Amino acid sequence: MESIKIYDKTFKVSISAEVIKKRVEELGKQISKEMEGRNPLFLAVLNGSFIFGADLYREITIPSEITFVKLASYAGTVTTGIVSEVIGLNVDLTGRDVIIVEDIVDTGLTMQQMLETLSLQNPASVKICTLLTKPEKLQVPLTLDYVAFEIPNLFVVGYGLDYDQQGRNLKDIYELAE
Ligand code: PRP
Repeated sequence: MESIKIYDKTFKVSISAEVIKKRVEELGKQISKEMEGRNPLFLAVLNGSFIFGADLYREITIPSEITFVKLASYAGTVTTGIVSEVIGLNVDLTGRDVIIVEDIVDTGLTMQQMLETLSLQNPASVKICTLLTKPEKLQVPLTLDYVAFEIPNLFVVGYGLDYDQQGRNLKDIYELAE
């Protein structure tokens, strides 16, 4: 199988572009069916979700909107640990059905923080849609409404995900080879 090298690490294909495409189509259909008549707002979290978000959104067949945010992380107090601030959100979420789009939910801490922040704006509902999740690493109880793939606890890159900012352009998802 084709392997690639980024800096010091060798990666092999974990999920092919073809498999990703099929799964994204399925998710698009499912979301379009379940959210019909609700004009959902897709909230894609940059940078990692830009490719998944763009592909998924083109599979959505109902009236809907998409916007993009970034998270700024900084060290909070001893009790809160890392705090993420949602920046760039210029849409009023009051009464909206929000679908957060992420590339990966790892420990779940980012998502937990984000749910708390968004709830302050009184959205009608908030759902989570993630390309990947690592169930072994999840540290907090989270309902992941739409998951494309559950993966083992391996470092992955490609289809938006980076290794030290490299590799986001790869069409397949790769995992560490050794
Ligand atoms: C990734 C991912 C999530 C977060 C998940 O972002 O996009 O935002 O990590 O991790 P957690 O579940 O352990 O909190 P990253 O910081 O790599 O930024 P990027 O999207 O710009 O690559």
